Amino acid sequence: MISKKMLDALNNHLNEEFYSSYLYLSMAAYFEDKNLNGFANWFKLQAQEEWAHGMKFYDFINQTGGKVILKAIGAPKTNWKSITDVFKETLAHEKHITGLINKLAGQAIQAKDYATNNFLQWFVTEQVEEEATAEEILNKVKLIGDNTGGLFMLDRELGFRKAQ
Ligand code: FEO
Repeated sequence: MISKKMLDALNNHLNEEFYSSYLYLSMAAYFEDKNLNGFANWFKLQAQEEWAHGMKFYDFINQTGGKVILKAIGAPKTNWKSITDVFKETLAHEKHITGLINKLAGQAIQAKDYATNNFLQWFVTEQVEEEATAEEILNKVKLIGDNTGGLFMLDRELGFRKAQ
C-alpha cells in the first residue's frame, strides 16, 4: 500500500508534467506566431508527450488505490528573447524535472516502496532522452546563429517529427 506522503508527492508531480505540457504548448504558440511551423510542430508534439507523462501518473495513482487530486496549472511564459533562449529554457526545465524524478525515486526507495520505484524508473530513463534531445537542438540553434538558411533547414527538420 502506498503511503499518504508518497501519494501526495506523486500528485504534485502529476501537476509538474501537466505544467510542462502547458509550457511547451506556449513555446509552440511562440513559434506559430513567427511562422516557424516546424519548431511549432516539435513543441506541440512535446506538449502532447508531457500530457501523456502526466496521465501515466494519473493511471498509476488510481491503480494503487489512491485518489488523483488535480491542482491549478501555473501560467507559462508567453515570450522569449530568442530561439536560443527557448531551447535554453527547455533544457533547464528538463533538468528540473529530472531532479524531481530522482527525488521521488529516492523517496520511494527510502520508504521501501518498490512498486512506485519501479514505476518511476521509466521516467528516469525517459529523462536521459529528454535532456539529450533538448541539448542537441540547443547546440544546433547556437551553431546556426543568425544564419537564416540554417534556421529554415532546422525548421524543416523539426517539422518532420511525428507523434509516437
Ligand atoms: Fe515529462 Fe519532458 O519530462
